[in-house]
Amino acid sequence: MSQRVLGIETSCDETGIALYDADRGLLGHRLFSQVALHAPYGGVVPELASRDHLRRILPLTRELLSDCLPDDKWSISGIAYTAGPGLVGALLTGATVARAMAMALGLPALGVHHMEGHLLAPRLEEDGPEFPFLALLVSGGHSLLVAVRGLGRYRVLGQTLDDAAGQAFDKTAKLLGLGYPGGPLIERLAAEGDPASVAFPRPMTRRPGLDFSFSGLKTAVYYARQRQQAGELAATDADLAASFQAAILDTLAIKCRRALAETGLTRLVIAGGCGANRALRARLAEVAADEGARVYYPRAEFCTDNGAMIAYAGFLRLAAGETSQSGVRARWSLEDLRPPRAAETKTTGTRSA
Ligand code: KG4
Ligand code: ZN
Repeated sequence: MSQRVLGIETSCDETGIALYDADRGLLGHRLFSQVALHAPYGGVVPELASRDHLRRILPLTRELLSDCLPDDKWSISGIAYTAGPGLVGALLTGATVARAMAMALGLPALGVHHMEGHLLAPRLEEDGPEFPFLALLVSGGHSLLVAVRGLGRYRVLGQTLDDAAGQAFDKTAKLLGLGYPGGPLIERLAAEGDPASVAFPRPMTRRPGLDFSFSGLKTAVYYARQRQQAGELAATDADLAASFQAAILDTLAIKCRRALAETGLTRLVIAGGCGANRALRARLAEVAADEGARVYYPRAEFCTDNGAMIAYAGFLRLAAGETSQSGVRARWSLEDLRPPRAAETKTTGTRSA
């Protein structure tokens, strides 16, 4: 039997389960999104997230394995789970179920870095990027520019000093009375507005460096909203959304252009939930064309959190003989990762029921 790894993602508000096979690639995946559960609160409620992951993991796993492996649903060779960064309770839920399952089946279990999953996700596609590449990770929890030289060879070139790009979308959506998650709603509203109607700042673009900061932008939207409601600013909600989105897009485009020029890399990977934004995609396509680079995206469903990226990253590391200690980490820098190192006694085994 070829190496076949089950991946379990529970770092935030999506339960993702997937199966990756060494010979046949991704065999299948399942996702349960908790968006509706958290929507009334305008953000993720950690305790509710943990409880819901617990409800979903086993039924989704059973369904996936029965569909993908009808003859022997337990013919897997390892289990990978997200060990961080993320919400501790949510991570512990996935880690505990994964490790318990692995122990019962006599299989190796491996904790995977959530952002490594996002970085590698475009390589699940047939025409995915070769190493090295520049990656822009823009999600609800992170905004990072990373030089990726190979598996586990990551250098963080820039990151947000405060809010993540997705958080800025979510908070602006809340200010405008839209729902959650805010990204897609802002994108839709922005299409009807004038991006030049309000001059929002492009934070940290005038000074050198590749770090981001989005909390000042959020404050600027707050004050613009107050002025709009007091009748002192003639802008529609769509104008505010369009102007805010233009500020984020400009900022990300300027930093990506700078990072491509400074590193000389010719492949640009966009990952994380905000990578679903079509205006951002169009903008970065222009930047890449100017810099002689090619842009790569994961397929739409793998831009946001999913199990496939965890199964894949886990597969690559397990196949190299890596094993991990138990434990999860709410905070975990990508730069702490190393290329896979084989354990002294190789424990990667297989089990067939
Ligand atoms: O990667 P992801 O699913 O979860 C995290 O690991 O955070 O990213 C979720 C974030 C949310 O903040 C959401 O508002 C944002 O991605 N997002 C978008 C769009 N779709 C999702 N932001 C901008 N435009 C979109 N179309
Ligand atoms: Zn994510």
